[in-house]
Amino acid sequence: MRNPIIAALDVPTPERALELAGQLAGAVGAFKVGKELFTAAGPDIVRRLRATGAAVFLDLKFHDIPNTVAAAVRAAVRLDVQMLTIHASGGRPMMQAAEEAARDEAARQGAAPPLVLGVTVLTSLDDAALAEVGIAATSAQQVARLARLAAEAGLRGMVCSPLEIGLLRNVLPPTVQLVTPGIRPAGADRGDQKRTLTPAEAIAAGANWLVIGRPIIAAPDPAAAARAIAESLPA
Ligand code: C5P
Repeated sequence: MRNPIIAALDVPTPERALELAGQLAGAVGAFKVGKELFTAAGPDIVRRLRATGAAVFLDLKFHDIPNTVAAAVRAAVRLDVQMLTIHASGGRPMMQAAEEAARDEAARQGAAPPLVLGVTVLTSLDDAALAEVGIAATSAQQVARLARLAAEAGLRGMVCSPLEIGLLRNVLPPTVQLVTPGIRPAGADRGDQKRTLTPAEAIAAGANWLVIGRPIIAAPDPAAAARAIAESLPA
């Protein structure tokens, strides 16, 4: 099995990101570039990471009118990223436009389309916060609803919290890839993550990819930390 660990490069500068990428080469399956690094370093950091041969997950959580999201997805495909995120709450037309843009632009480039991942409900929102924005459903109900809609719209992957893996495996086709943050190795500092699973528990529950930030990038030896996590996984 390929290495399912995606190291979140949650750092403020391209220099630090490239240093970590160098240390982690071969020890993880991909690098995640999120809003902080992308806003600071721009698309060039994605090109430089891709130039090392590493797979890149561009986590910018697009949410806009379908035409705008489709154009942003095309730009991400031209950067040759392997995964990217959109908000499922942008609705069916937006998700369909994103998936179609990914496939069409990849075909133009002669590349495999990236996995367009749907984000359902931010884990920072509890039921009271959802009610405030007019969503009467519980967070679990809303996650299931948006995940079904995303699959109907053609998305081939979803981001979910470790505690949603079981729920989504029940409502989604088995081919849908689940990408899960909120992972903490046994005994690791949880930081601000409240509901975590260990890497092995998340894979056993049905996750395909594990997004792991601080337990790797803040470790004294990031490569050793990543290798220890990989070795903890079921073969
Ligand atoms: O350092 P840590 O392992 O907590 O990093 C997790 C990564 O996954 C961060 O980049 C964070 O933004 C992202 N993430 C998350 N929880 C979500 C969605 C994304 O922790 N619900």
